[in-house]
This record gives sequence, C-alpha cells and structure tokens, in this order.
Amino acid sequence: MTKIEKIVLSYSGGLDTSIILKWLQETYGCEVVTFTADLGQGEELEPARAKAEMSGVKDIRIVDLREEFVRDFVFPMLRANALYEGQYLLGSSIARPLIAKHLVGIAREVDADAVAHGATGKGNDQIRFELAVNALDPSIRVIVPWRQWTIRSRMQLLEYAEKHRILVPSDKRGEAPFSIDANLLHTSTEGKILENPAEVAPDHVYQRTVDPIDAPDAPEIITIGFERGDPISVNGKAVTPAALLTKLNGLGGRHGVGRLDLVENRFIGMKSRGIYETPGGTILLAAHRGIESITLDRAAAHLKDEIMPRYAELIYNGFWFAPEREMLQALIDHSQAFVSGEVTLRLYKGSASVISRASPCSLYSADLVTFEESAIAFDHHDAEGFIRLNGLRLRSLAARNGR
Ligand code: ARG
Repeated sequence: MTKIEKIVLSYSGGLDTSIILKWLQETYGCEVVTFTADLGQGEELEPARAKAEMSGVKDIRIVDLREEFVRDFVFPMLRANALYEGQYLLGSSIARPLIAKHLVGIAREVDADAVAHGATGKGNDQIRFELAVNALDPSIRVIVPWRQWTIRSRMQLLEYAEKHRILVPSDKRGEAPFSIDANLLHTSTEGKILENPAEVAPDHVYQRTVDPIDAPDAPEIITIGFERGDPISVNGKAVTPAALLTKLNGLGGRHGVGRLDLVENRFIGMKSRGIYETPGGTILLAAHRGIESITLDRAAAHLKDEIMPRYAELIYNGFWFAPEREMLQALIDHSQAFVSGEVTLRLYKGSASVISRASPCSLYSADLVTFEESAIAFDHHDAEGFIRLNGLRLRSLAARNGR
C-alpha cells in the first residue's frame, strides 16, 4: 500500500467527523485538509472552523455551495418530479454528488492522494460519495473510517470522544442527538426511537416545520413563476435559486407543509425509518406539476412519469454521474422547453394545493373542452368512430369469452 501524504476530509464539525479528523491524523500521520460545504443546513459554520483549527488543521475550506446546489442539482431533479418509492424527495441523495465533486476538486488543487467521508457502512451516503468519486477521478482513493476502525456503534463512538476530549454535542434536551442531515432541500432525521417503526415520532424530532394542527387558521396564497421548467419567482419577485428555496422553506414550514414519516428501502439492503421535512421542495413539486399540466403534451407527460421512478432510483442509489442518469436528464430537460408560466397555490395546515395556473405556452383550450357551444370545430361523430375502433378488440374478446 502506498503511503498517504494528504487527505481531504468532508467535515461538518459534528461529532462523527470531529472524531474522524482525529483518527485520520493519528492513523495516517499526515496532513488533513477539511472541507465544509454550506448547503444551507441552517447551522453556523464558524464553529466548524474553530474546531478544525483546534485540531491543528492548517488548510480549512468552508465553501458556500447553496446556489450551485439548488441550481445544478435540486432544480434539474425537480424537472423530473423525482420521488423515490413514491414519496421521498431525495434531499440527502442529491447533496452527496455535489459534495463529492468539490472534495475531488480540492483534492486535485492541493494534490491530495485521498478523500475521506464520515458516512457509515450501513447507509446509502457512502455509496453516493464513492460512486461519484469513482466517476469523477478514479485516481483518488477514498478513506472510510467507519469501515476501517474498530468502533462499531454510536456508544463506542461516544467513548472514543470522551477519551480524546472531543466535545460531544447534545440536543435541546441534553440527550445524544439523532442522526440528522440537513440542507436547503430537507432535514432528515433517523436513529434512536425512530428505529422502531411502530413508535410514533415524538414532536421534538421536527426541526423546520410546525405540526399542521398548530399551523395558522388562515390560508396563505402564493404564486410561483416558472421558466423552462425551473422556478424563477415568488409572488412576482424574481429571485435566485437558493433564495427562492429559502423563501419557500419559510412559507411551507410555517404552514406545516412537507412532513413525511417513511420506511424506505436502502440500496445497501435494509429497510430504514426516517422523518423528512421538505417544506419548499413539497411546494415546488406541486407547483411544477401544476405548470406542466397545462404546458406538456399528454404523451410527453406520461413518458416523463414512466421514467421518473427509474431516474429517482438512480439518484437514490448514487448514480448521479452515470451515463444513464445523464441520458434521462437530457430527455427530461428537452421536455421543459415550454414549461413556463405561473402557478398559484394555497398553503393551509400541512397542504400545498394548486388553485390556479396560467401560461403563455399553454396547450389548454377552453374552447375545445367547453361544455357549452364553441367556435372550434369538433365533430362529435369522430368520437363515435374513435370509440367503435377502440372497442373492436373488446367486442371480439367478449364474443369469444362468452361474457
Ligand atoms: N435515508 C435518507 C437517504 O438515504 C437520508 C440519509 C440521511 N443521511 C444522514 N447522514 N443522516 O437519502
């Protein structure tokens, strides 16, 4: 095995990666560069800098990736209306390829031989990080302390922290925290009492949404503008991608929009239970479907819906930088050329409902669909022939089957 001279660590400043930093320095006796991504996790990042400094890190990178995250990862995914297993908006899944991309970029810049991450051996995140690094630069090694060291549980992790005088964060109630992953798209919470899917999640699990029961009694009406499939404005005001999602998170959170209690199938093989809060993303999914409903052709829309589960699974499983994801993305992006206009939604006690939509590129024709008399030529006799021919097989089958 060749000696490792320099490692770039994906570092949040939390318990796991603080321990990993120490462990890497001790195990490899080499320089560790820390990389902390600001993905809008809503957490101060300066403490991460201070902790890295205290651990003797010379090269500390804290990078604001919020705009890139939303513009180049969240929005392309939203164009597909992507949901894993019908419900999960992929908030953690979509962040990993972006973090990996920057880990690789920094590793090249500082001439490091390896990158390291703090994802455990049981989860999806390790797969996403490593598949992305494989795709972007196979010459870079990936060090995964959770698969190499002898620590096997959170309990042992806490013991290691105590021994090395590493500060153990606790939640508001002074207890060990859940396993939380947060960014501008979502907050996911796993572990502890949630590991029993028969237990109801306690209220203090939720971080950024109110309980719909406690949401305001008055509904709030909002309008979102779209251009070529991407949201560009809220209530008529043009905003950047990250500002738009931040704004919708605030609005949705206040109305209890986007809570999800889910048991999902991890790529690695086991089922897991998590609580997700995706307020802005939930509003955007409803709004995007709303604008597509008047601007997409039927067959185009149905084809998108057919490939969506496949596309979502690729992202969930960590294949963002794989050719098949890029091919599906090209198809999805092509479909969005006319997905422009405005959608109005009502936020009310946990729901985000589309109440109107309008577009200069609309395919909707009131003249065509109207129950009243209309100027557009539509020969009702055509419908008779249409049904007679579609029914041809069914009549043959019924005659044979003796229905
Ligand atoms: N189960 C979700 C997923 O696989 C969330 C993972 C959250 N990650 C974490 N480090 N807590 O996408």
